[in-house]
Amino acid sequence: MKTRIVIALGLGAILSAHAETAAKPDKVAVCASCHGETGASIGPTFPNLAGQQASYIEHALNAYKSGERKNPIMSGQAAALSDADVKALALWFSSQPAKVYVPDIEQNQSAGK
Ligand code: HEC
Repeated sequence: MKTRIVIALGLGAILSAHAETAAKPDKVAVCASCHGETGASIGPTFPNLAGQQASYIEHALNAYKSGERKNPIMSGQAAALSDADVKALALWFSSQPAKVYVPDIEQNQSAGK
């Protein structure tokens, strides 16, 4: 009996921890104007974040914060994030379905790329 209660509590903890990973952080609203709310960016000059590895997103944000990675837009964005924000945003974008980018080969060729 005792074991069953422990198992039930354990399962509950796992399920609620999983639900937490999908919770949308409030600060997504700031990122959405460029990266889209679900990480599918609004245009070719902004990287897609949907489905990216959470550890990569976290690393990138911390690199902008520390100045190791420099970008006039993202340095300012990252400076405003706490460690908890970084983790929550990384989990949010990572858990969104990846957007597949299909290059327009003809257009790229005529542009000399
Ligand atoms: C005004 C537009 C803008 C806003 C707002 C913005 N970003 Fe960015 N973000 C960019 C651009 C442009 C880049 C590419 C910068 C570079 O070349 O390093 C970028 C890069 C990134 C990268 C690195 C992607 C990679 O593939 O290496 C991450 C992660 C990221 N942004 C997360 C965020 C998060 C989280 C927010 C919200 C707190 C946010 N961004 C807000 C424009 C924006």
